[in-house]
Amino acid sequence: MQNAKRAFITGITGQDGMYLSRLLLSKGYEVYGLVRGQNNPKIPVLQAWAPEVKILTGDLLDQSSLLRALKVAQPTEVYNLGAISFVAYSWENAQLTSQVTGLGVLNMLEAVRLYAGDDVSAVRFYQASSSEMFGRVQEVPQRETTLLWPRSPYGVAKVFGHYMTINYRESYGMHASSGVLFNHESPLRGPEFVTRKISTAVARISLGLQDRLDLGNIDAQRDWGFAGDYVEAMWRMLQQDEADDYVISTGETQSVRKYLDIAFAHVGIDDWSGYVHQDPALLRPAEVDLLIGDSAKARTRLEWAPSVAFEDLVTMMVDADLAIAAKEKSGA
Ligand code: NAP
Ligand code: GDD
Repeated sequence: MQNAKRAFITGITGQDGMYLSRLLLSKGYEVYGLVRGQNNPKIPVLQAWAPEVKILTGDLLDQSSLLRALKVAQPTEVYNLGAISFVAYSWENAQLTSQVTGLGVLNMLEAVRLYAGDDVSAVRFYQASSSEMFGRVQEVPQRETTLLWPRSPYGVAKVFGHYMTINYRESYGMHASSGVLFNHESPLRGPEFVTRKISTAVARISLGLQDRLDLGNIDAQRDWGFAGDYVEAMWRMLQQDEADDYVISTGETQSVRKYLDIAFAHVGIDDWSGYVHQDPALLRPAEVDLLIGDSAKARTRLEWAPSVAFEDLVTMMVDADLAIAAKEKSGA
């Protein structure tokens, strides 16, 4: 095993993978990223964003590809961010979600154990757990000790990965930590998630490129933070002497309705009721209850705190999408 700081990231083409790759590069890491598929369209996006990242191919469903990639990357830190992460999709593709988001974690943990050999604690492991595991919440706010009660196939798969990570820590002495992250967003958020769906639509509506936005439950509430802050917490977890689990959240809950208010107001539209339509097809078979995280443990032990307020997050996303919409309008 080598002494230089070397990181291996699964899910590097996703929102968090992109932010984490830049953070680690800025700290002097050599960064390797696992990319799936024979011609993944996100490769050029990743290369433009962080050209220094070394791309390896593999899939969380193919354990031999993970082991092979680890042998090439020789990492001291492994961040397992890869997953099917869209909750709504997980009801329609429950088995695939269970395999990738659940069993994929076991594949990665086992690959790390095999790769590390006798020196298993020398490779630090981060698992991307989720507030979706709290589902039908058993206490408000939720913390590390709150009983898990997932409400979606995605949430169930995340619970499996979460406990498997703890099990590898306890069984093999692996330095394996889970970050129980509440929702975090950015201009790189996938367009299927509600924040980005709204910021894209608001930008396009304000420039006359679109005139309606179909949404599901606009009274849903979430504890939304900024992705750039949350990847910093992941890194801090792996710098601790002891591996552990941490809730990462802002501690404030907001509604989709509030997000709409701020986003539309930012482009000068105070009454958005004529643009937004509720589509019953976008309602979920089950919703989580009041998600709001207590990140006191992370704030004390990791000295971590969120730096971007909700209103600034919304306007950051709308501004980024206004720039994209303006290019679209000009035909660039
Ligand atoms: P994301 O943007 O949806 O990215 C998911 C990543 O997983 C993509 O790079 C995707 O690759 C990759 N992936 C999907 N299937 C794979 C497979 N079979 N093998 C290898 N890679 C695969 O998600 P994110 O928002 O960055 O979130 C990162 C992680 O944190 C996920 O595990 C998510 O569940 C978890 N999480 C996210 C939040 C949040 O609010 N963002 C909160 C809590 C937990 P392609 O680009 O090829 O599709
Ligand atoms: N996506 C989406 N699209 N959500 C909508 C819509 C819509 O048109 N209308 C209302 N919503 C509501 C959903 O019902 C949900 O209550 C809320 O907006 C947030 O939905 P998403 O943005 O899809 O995120 P999520 O909370 O389900 O899941 C995200 O956060 C989890 C952490 O709690 C994902 O990033 C998960 O991977 C992550 O684990």
